[in-house]
Amino acid sequence: MEPLELAADAPVLGIETSCDETAAAVVCGASTVLSSVVSSQIDLHARFGGVVPEIASRAHLDLLVPVVAEALVSAGLDDREIAAVGATYGPGLIGSLLIGVSAAKALSMVWGVPFVAVNHMEAHLYAALLENPGLELPLVVLLVSGGHTMIVEMRAPGRYRILGRTLDDAAGEAFDKVARYLGLGYPGGPVIDRLANDGDPEAIRFPRSMLDEGYDFSFSGLKTAVAMHIDQRGQPGSRQALADLCASFQAAVVDVLVAKARLARRKFDCAAMTVVGGVSANSGLRAAMTAAAAADGFELWTPALRYCGDNAAMIGAAAALRMQAGLEPGVQVFASGAIDEARGAA
Ligand code: KG4
Ligand code: ZN
Repeated sequence: MEPLELAADAPVLGIETSCDETAAAVVCGASTVLSSVVSSQIDLHARFGGVVPEIASRAHLDLLVPVVAEALVSAGLDDREIAAVGATYGPGLIGSLLIGVSAAKALSMVWGVPFVAVNHMEAHLYAALLENPGLELPLVVLLVSGGHTMIVEMRAPGRYRILGRTLDDAAGEAFDKVARYLGLGYPGGPVIDRLANDGDPEAIRFPRSMLDEGYDFSFSGLKTAVAMHIDQRGQPGSRQALADLCASFQAAVVDVLVAKARLARRKFDCAAMTVVGGVSANSGLRAAMTAAAAADGFELWTPALRYCGDNAAMIGAAAALRMQAGLEPGVQVFASGAIDEARGAA
């Protein structure tokens, strides 16, 4: 396939439907967001305690056209001004992905512009660049979401090395499962974060798994430790006890994430780091990374809260950068062996 070409300021429509957010955005390059619309389906899934794939696909079908229309209108652009359409092709729920990819392909055909298939994880890597034109590569990125937890060396668009990743649960998944044990609903991250603010992070000493073992993570032992604590002691009997448990759990996650991110940043000697993905909204993680940046003397960039979780601005930015770099559309960047070459090497 021929590489595509795109001017630096050409408007790109991004579409994201990999899980329970229906999102569309118009961006110019990696850092100018003209519009970003995210319609969350959380209310539809909350009573099931997690995302129900069939409900998600049907909701995307209903929501996508109005969400795209709103993104175009708030960008103040006519659809004929869009230079390319990017959409998440994976990883994600297959039925949900199909809705976004089909819509994006249809629009690209009608408008006569290129379609760019975007890897969802690659797009998260670019979240901190949105609205931050000063941020330059190479970077070490801590990517923490509901489905993935990894440390990536980001050298240039399309050139990434996964330094470490979780061997079992993702950090966000651990937040969601612990919240479920505590009857706090879905998604668990934001509610645990809020409760943890009033708790004592040293009240309960939960394990910090694989702390001295390279860049890989494991969160399933921590999750089990919390479940056993609740089994043995019962549900927290007061709001303070609940806050203490949340703070202690969150501290265990944050300690491991920050220790490994610092180790990787030192080893690969990057002047700057970013933290991205849904869990990068966590106030404890942001505070601990800010303290680490001050202590170790590196620049820390975190996305605005609206770009931490799933959104389409990051999809548009990834599509624009791939095209500007002359990369082939739709290459499975995170599936190639080259990316894995430095995995786990401390
Ligand atoms: O990036 P994202 O929106 O979707 C995936 O690609 O997975 O991440 C969603 C995850 C959920 O597990 C959610 O609980 C977590 O991000 N999350 C948080 C916070 N806000 C969202 N975790 C901890 N603290 C938060 N404030
Ligand atoms: Zn995501």
